[in-house]
Amino acid sequence: MDVFKIQGGQRLTGKISVDGSKNAALPLLAASLLTSEPIHFTCMPHLSDITNMSKLLAELGCKVEQQSTNEITLQVTDESTSHARYDIVRTMRASVCVLGPLLARRGKVRVSMPGGCAFGDRPIDLHLRGLEALGATIELDGGDIIARADKLIGATIFLGGPFGSTVLGTANVMSAATLAKGRTIIESAACEPEIADLALLLNNMGAKISGAGTPRIIIEGVEQLGGASHTVMPDRIVAGTWAIAAAMTNGDVTIERFPLDHLLAVTNILSTVGVHVKQIDPSENPRTCAVQIVSDRHLKPVMFTTQPYPGFPTDLQAQMMALLCLSRGNSIITEKIYPERFMHVPELSRMGAKLVRQGATVIVQGVDHLVGAPVMASDLRASASLVLAGLAAEGETTISRVYHLDRGYAAMEKTLASLGAKIERVDGSTIVDGLPLVETVSSQKIVQSDC
Ligand code: EPU
Repeated sequence: MDVFKIQGGQRLTGKISVDGSKNAALPLLAASLLTSEPIHFTCMPHLSDITNMSKLLAELGCKVEQQSTNEITLQVTDESTSHARYDIVRTMRASVCVLGPLLARRGKVRVSMPGGCAFGDRPIDLHLRGLEALGATIELDGGDIIARADKLIGATIFLGGPFGSTVLGTANVMSAATLAKGRTIIESAACEPEIADLALLLNNMGAKISGAGTPRIIIEGVEQLGGASHTVMPDRIVAGTWAIAAAMTNGDVTIERFPLDHLLAVTNILSTVGVHVKQIDPSENPRTCAVQIVSDRHLKPVMFTTQPYPGFPTDLQAQMMALLCLSRGNSIITEKIYPERFMHVPELSRMGAKLVRQGATVIVQGVDHLVGAPVMASDLRASASLVLAGLAAEGETTISRVYHLDRGYAAMEKTLASLGAKIERVDGSTIVDGLPLVETVSSQKIVQSDC
């Protein structure tokens, strides 16, 4: 298993560009199940999750053609199989987003029920409640969800849950409703920009969706959908991670294709902390513009809470915690989406961070410096925070299990090295002082499905 070796303390400088969004791309790819015509994507990120989703879609009868690293076309050629098997779903929770499209188009779907994940329970009750409201019958058999409906019928559906709305649940219900008879209204829909991007594709395929990106989405069902081309929106979480990397390393980095408009909660915290965030050309589209991040690392403490969009995203909580470890004073972070999403806390502590956790809140006592150490990646975003800490720390950090990072950051080490970071990917079995040598065979086989 690969390991990242980082020699910390290098100031990041230079220019990079943000790839297409993983969390937009997964439901976008699944939407190709809604038609027999080709769907062509550009700016598709080159990630293991995308490869896994393509494999799943191939099993479900899609012809997948990769034109270049970031360009892919999918076309359904065989509708006979509607079973998303446990083997794939357990490696990637987001496989669940084939549920709505398959049900709407094929009238029957069998999807393995995703289990919990590295940072807690991840129920899908809201997805199922939404599909039932459209007239589906749902049963559980051998760990699989079986959903059936001869014809979905539009309905008014409330998708709010105890932690807000559901992103992939909204994607599932909205996708299914495109082919339902009559009008569907989703109340308390997820407002995340990835939902608006999905609606854009679906509308280009012939769907009639309005209000996507707001809590009330209205879908007028149509008889059928057709082919389309789509450019995947930039990844706001990757963009935020690069911005925090620049901030942590006293850096000066220009980030192109930066979705500034989608990251206001994050850039607001960065500014409060004392990091300079500047849109280089104010006339550029604020969803894909160039932004300069400059930091002199005199960081102030801050208090923030993760929330559904447009609040501070849970997917950047770990990275921002790494930054605040180096602020001058006490910061308070509260996690309101996944109250257990703190796997990075003990690992950051190994690097000298002073962190006190009480339930869903962590108090971060800023320290002068972090110290390199062997640490263990546990899920995608927690791993990213360890990389950031390693970049800023004194000495060497080795991060094992970097396959987590490959799910959401395309060749992360190459992007960071292009900015001057001393980071390399090495074969874990060659590390002498790091953790990989003490990992057991069974721990190496753990498959986490955190996304
Ligand atoms: N929830 C329910 N019932 C449901 C669904 C969700 O109670 O049926 C709860 C969840 O337990 C959670 C909250 O609602 O407390 C939000 O979960 P949501 O359904 O919105 O999460 P998701 O759609 O499964 C996506 C991203 C996650 C991201 C969350 C929240 C993808 C592929 N995944 O997950 O991304 O954290 O939204 O923004 O889009 C990541 O990229 O690292 C990642 C985990």
